[in-house]
Amino acid sequence: MYKIVRKRVLNPTVTMMDIDAPLVAAKALAGQFIILRVNDDSERIPLTVAGYDRVKGTVRIIFQVVGESTMSLNDKQEGDFICDFVGPLGRPTETAGIKKVCIVGGGVGCAIALPVAQRFKELGAEVHSIIGFRNKDLVILEDEFKACSDKLTIVTDDGSYGTKGVVTMPLKQDIESGERYDLVMAIGPVIMMKFVVETTRPYNIPTTVSMNPIMIDGTGMCGGCRLTVGGKTKFACVDGPDFNGFEVDFDEAMLRSTMYADFEKREREEYCNLFKKEVR
Ligand SMILES: Cc1cc2nc3c(=O)[nH]c(=O)nc-3n(C[C@H](O)[C@H](O)[C@H](O)COP(=O)(O)OP(=O)(O)OC[C@H]3O[C@@H](n4cnc5c(N)ncnc54)[C@H](O)[C@@H]3O)c2cc1C
Ligand code: FES
Repeated sequence: MYKIVRKRVLNPTVTMMDIDAPLVAAKALAGQFIILRVNDDSERIPLTVAGYDRVKGTVRIIFQVVGESTMSLNDKQEGDFICDFVGPLGRPTETAGIKKVCIVGGGVGCAIALPVAQRFKELGAEVHSIIGFRNKDLVILEDEFKACSDKLTIVTDDGSYGTKGVVTMPLKQDIESGERYDLVMAIGPVIMMKFVVETTRPYNIPTTVSMNPIMIDGTGMCGGCRLTVGGKTKFACVDGPDFNGFEVDFDEAMLRSTMYADFEKREREEYCNLFKKEVR
């Protein structure tokens, strides 16, 4: 059992937790993820290692409350326990030789982007971050990004905070104004990553994307997380989650991610109904 040592609500749908998991904390690196089960009858869900403290032995997760599993995780409080917490899984983000990087994060993807930005900063790279949200109320981790970025641009779809627009607008402006990035790293909704890749492709700027397909075992055995990358089948859990964005078949990934939409909707509704019954 893994104790929740800290819980903080970042916005109405995004929560941060620090979990007591010394063995995971000892080895985790930016770009990796864990798989947890909230209770012993829960499904396994992957969440990115959003931070770690090797001295305290804690691992930080930041999650958006979207369905049954994340709702039940969010119902846990400081001092409560999570049943399973396995990791670190996946390959860490490649950082070798990168002197100037642009990190592009969208929505809760910013939770995954933050440790990557922090890692590049630690290694001495110049870090530019562009983070995008639907509106002001959903902005998360602004101070943390400020602390690790040489330049931070915030955009919101409706212009209620930062610049009005989507993340590809400042990215294109920066590239056209002469910023020479060794790498652009995009982390967020698949559609956003697809458009970041279409923005950088004409300039041939190496672009890495962090893919988040449905995962089950997280060890390369079930095939649930398969993607087509460079015309070959890859498993995001063991070959990724980072991939060369120019090679990813985004349309197939988007199609596969909606495969269980009806089932997920039913589970979410059942969980909400159960909760309503319990509080009555
Ligand atoms: C490597 C990886 C890292 C991730 N990191 C984060 C993170 O740091 N923060 C965060 O908020 N989310 C992250 N996700 C997504 C997160 O796993 C899903 O939001 C979560 O599983 C939803 O479960 P649910 O029961 O609450 O929602 P559901 O209603 O079951 O599903 C909502 C949506 O979540 C996705 N999803 C559902 N089950 C899975 C699964 N087993 N594996 C992957 N995606 C699933 C589907 O796209 C689905 O449409 C990550 C996914 C992957 C693959
Ligand atoms: S989650 Fe099963 S192969 Fe990747």
